[in-house]
Order: sequence, then C-alpha cells, then structure tokens
Amino acid sequence: MCLSGSDPNSVFHQTKSIFSLISNIKVGLQPEICGTMYTITFKFEQKGLEPITLTGIEPDQSILEVALKNDIELHHNCGGVCACSTCHLYVDKGEDFLEELSDKEEDFIDRAVNPRLNSRLGCQCVLQEGGGEVFVTLPDQTQFLGE
Ligand code: FES
Repeated sequence: MCLSGSDPNSVFHQTKSIFSLISNIKVGLQPEICGTMYTITFKFEQKGLEPITLTGIEPDQSILEVALKNDIELHHNCGGVCACSTCHLYVDKGEDFLEELSDKEEDFIDRAVNPRLNSRLGCQCVLQEGGGEVFVTLPDQTQFLGE
C-alpha cells in the first residue's frame, strides 16, 4: 500500500483530506463559540482603582457573581436577592445583554445612593444567553458597611 501523498486515492491522501475538512469545520465554528461569551469591563468611582476587563465570561450569571468570582469588591448585604441596594452599579454599555429591570429592582434603585438613569442592581443584571460586551461602573464601595 502506498502511503505517500502523491496518489489521490491513497489512504494517506484521503485521511489528510478528512483531517483538513475537520479542521476547516472547527475554524468555521469559532465565531459561534466566541459569541457565547461575554467581555465585561468594570470601571470604578473609587479613587486609585484602574478599570478591569474580564473576558470569556459565561452567560446565566449576574454581574455581582462575576465581580465576586474575580475578587472585585461589590457590596451585597442581602446576599443577592433584590432586597437591598448595596450592589448598585451603573451600566454604561450593553444593557440589552442583561435581564430586564423589574419593578422591585426599580424600587430598590430609588433607595440607592446617587441613582442615575443607567442604574441597576448588580445581582439582578443576569447575563442573557449569547455574548457581547458590557461596561459597568461601580460606585465607591468605601461608602458601605457590611459585605
Ligand atoms: S445584593 Fe441586595 S439587592 Fe443586590
């Protein structure tokens, strides 16, 4: 049996063609795989903190969860159940990727320090299926007591 690549009917040539086909399929899938992850940039109002950009963030978790998993301080006195306003933050870009604002969340935002039009509660900002870029700004966390 000839295993050189010169004979187009050889096992070697056919195997190589199959591997080439498989790797082309993998390359074709890459944009879809990238499209299921988020990139989140955290900016801070607290003096001396530089912005942090996290990549490869999976959907179906809140901005609060993402922050805590990555050692970014964001208070959460009620434990993330929409019963306080200490996880208050500002969504600068990418609000369409997040779960919609509920009436209950809006009520707690009204009690937050310095609420703005782009205010949200970090524990209620759940990343929807898909992927994209989200930019948030965290208020100065030194103003809060507790967790
Ligand atoms: S942690 Fe209390 S409302 Fe988000």
